[in-house]
Amino acid sequence: MILRDFGCRGNICNWRDLDLNRFESDPGHNHIKTHVNDINPCFFLPDMISLCPTTLSSFQLTSPPQNPSHRPPNLRRLTAVVSESHYETERGFEFQIGDTFFRHESATGRDLGVLAAALYKRSNDKLRVLDAMCGCGIRSLRYLAEVKADFVLANDANEDCNGVIVSNLSTVSSEDEGRWKVNHSVANRVLAERYVERDYFDFIDVDSFGSDSSFFRCAFDAVKLGGLLYVTSTDGFSSGGHRPNHSLAAYGAYIRPLPYSNEIGLRMLIGGAVREASVLGYHVSPLFSYYSYHGPVFRVLLRVNRGKLPHGHVLLVAVCLHYRFISYCDSCGNSQAIPWDELGQMNCPCGSDVPDSLVVSGPLWTGPLHCAAYLTEMLALAGEWGWLGNGTKNDLDKLLRRMIDESDPNLSFGYIKLDEIASRAKVNSPPLVTIMNAIHQEGYSVSRSHISSNAIKTNCPMSECVRIAKQLRHC
Ligand SMILES: C[S@@+](CC[C@H](N)C(=O)[O-])C[C@H]1O[C@@H](n2cnc3c(N)ncnc32)[C@H](O)[C@@H]1O
Ligand SMILES: [Zn+2]
Repeated sequence: MILRDFGCRGNICNWRDLDLNRFESDPGHNHIKTHVNDINPCFFLPDMISLCPTTLSSFQLTSPPQNPSHRPPNLRRLTAVVSESHYETERGFEFQIGDTFFRHESATGRDLGVLAAALYKRSNDKLRVLDAMCGCGIRSLRYLAEVKADFVLANDANEDCNGVIVSNLSTVSSEDEGRWKVNHSVANRVLAERYVERDYFDFIDVDSFGSDSSFFRCAFDAVKLGGLLYVTSTDGFSSGGHRPNHSLAAYGAYIRPLPYSNEIGLRMLIGGAVREASVLGYHVSPLFSYYSYHGPVFRVLLRVNRGKLPHGHVLLVAVCLHYRFISYCDSCGNSQAIPWDELGQMNCPCGSDVPDSLVVSGPLWTGPLHCAAYLTEMLALAGEWGWLGNGTKNDLDKLLRRMIDESDPNLSFGYIKLDEIASRAKVNSPPLVTIMNAIHQEGYSVSRSHISSNAIKTNCPMSECVRIAKQLRHC
């Protein structure tokens, strides 16, 4: 029997595959052998699961419901439709959304996935996509129609999505043509089945909720070597450092509040993936990392390879290089990446005492968020397709260029908000371009951040930023 865990957040639900037969020999857990909705399995298995990553939750159950088979009266609301309209349009494609989960704000994340998949198809000629949590199937539709994917497996655990997905994909080609198939399993099951069948996919898109990292291993096993895995987190509480035990469970990273928390969300996700991949002997590198405040949504495209890196480093050396703890000094605002063999010697150049002023988080990915060459190709393709320069707030042109700029490997992790520099310098904030030019003239690397509009990324220490800001204000 399958337990469907609707770890709900508003109208979002996350399906987990808990095979209740696993518990049958344990009389202590007999009471869960019922179809249960909206129940976090952690509450039933406190002694078996001490760290349990679940989705972001707008409410917490504090004790198991009295009657687990009782359908909560608000379930309808929690799993209901997002939009009153049953049709949406994206990049010229009209599609149904029915009662599925759909956010038009996620269009940019879909654009980026489509561009990346198209580049893959161009250089490999073939493209098979597994859309593991497809909702209404808009991604599958776009991979088929825009990228001309040879095959798409559109999966969503919720069987109620079937009609909508089939109808949307039928607008591209008929089911009989065999270019697509719709499936309704939990993501891990479909990924594991593909692995067992040695039916590897070129591109796997996992558009998950919350901090569900449970699919990493199955996804790494199901993706082709050299293939692409597009992963997600929507857990803004964890990236903000508000649930360190939770981020530890989900991504193996103890996250505390930091001024650049939205970049931490991306680094937490990449770090978790890097770690899981290394267990299996794969190495992964981020091709791009994208943060969107709607949600929030953290999306990272990873290239998955096996074994040694091109420059001959063994896997673990490479992992250690860009997978570290980071510290932020509340007293002076300086951030540092701490190598593993220096964990016992943490201090800040300003001389402040540990632990009073140092906030330490990790381990996290501390390497570049993107590959500039890859993003440049994406930008060129977007230009070819006429996707650039519409001048809107969500302008893809601006986003991709900003991401290319922040790919400079000399830049440190994190971003510095101008407000923080101004407040530490006790001056009015200088214009962004002015301070960037001044920092650059002093020989440092500097760029804007795609995450925060009034922030810079730089390898210039905070103390120097403060000095430069004061100089600019003639203080
Ligand atoms: C964020 S929505 C997908 C949105 C869709 N990809 C899009 O771009 O519009 C996540 C979907 O995953 C499904 N889902 C949740 N947990 C799942 C699981 N463990 N396995 C498969 N599907 C799951 C939900 O039913 C939901 O439709
Ligand atoms: Zn300091």
